[in-house]
Amino acid sequence: MTLETTGLSKAFGGVTALDGASVSFHQGEVNALIGPNGSGKTTYFNCVTGMIKPDGGTVSYQGRDLTGKAPHRIARAGIGRTFQLCRTFPRMTALENVLSAVPPTGLIGGLRSARGRAEIERAMGWLTRLGIEHLAGSEARDLSWGQQKLLELAGVLMAEPETVLLDEPAGGVNPALLDRIGVLIRELNAEGRTFVIVEHNMDLVMSISDHIVVFDRGRPIAEGPPSQIRTDERVLGAYLGV
Ligand SMILES: Nc1ncnc2c1ncn2[C@@H]1O[C@H](COP(=O)(O)OP(=O)(O)O)[C@@H](O)[C@H]1O
Ligand SMILES: [Mg+2]
Repeated sequence: MTLETTGLSKAFGGVTALDGASVSFHQGEVNALIGPNGSGKTTYFNCVTGMIKPDGGTVSYQGRDLTGKAPHRIARAGIGRTFQLCRTFPRMTALENVLSAVPPTGLIGGLRSARGRAEIERAMGWLTRLGIEHLAGSEARDLSWGQQKLLELAGVLMAEPETVLLDEPAGGVNPALLDRIGVLIRELNAEGRTFVIVEHNMDLVMSISDHIVVFDRGRPIAEGPPSQIRTDERVLGAYLGV
């Protein structure tokens, strides 16, 4: 088990977003977290990555307790994430965006001109890997939505996280890019990265996942391999509202 939560709970005013969610994701696998809108998936990511503090419960990663730790501590423990509504700096170039995703190294690292060649080459390497190297000098705001999602992912990968949480990587992305994202996730996983993916596109989820956890009303109602989840009555019920 790599990422594990027990009894994770979070309420916003009277709204229960997480209702004692005990979940284990599998190391070295592509895990998916699915469920209807409002079932607590993004809140779960926010609690796991320290963006918000849970009201109760625990978060552990590879046996280490990360409950309530600050986001940079959690990033340092090896967890990276993207956001449902993509976070890039619109007026910075794609290359600058990727470089800004990791803290500059060295004493004078605060100066962009002082960035090491190696770091720039590494950033270009990720842009190339994600197929957007030709956009390195373009401002992020001039990229398509799908390209911005790839750019955000390039920034996350710059930190070399062992585990990557993706919040709706295919949301609003055109079909050609969607296939590419699926292939990329499988390739990056084959190189040893663990993924946890929140995604509504069931074709994508079913084709790339090893393990699926289904949320309904802030807690897991089913988990298993795609073959099992596809026919699970509780899952069908949660989605169809019966
Ligand atoms: N910052 C917030 N303030 C108030 N309510 C929130 C906040 N974040 C999430 N919620 C509520 O918590 C519930 C779960 O939301 P969310 O985690 O975004 O679900 P999902 O990602 O599965 O669609 C929803 O009812 C949502 O409106
Ligand atoms: Mg969400």
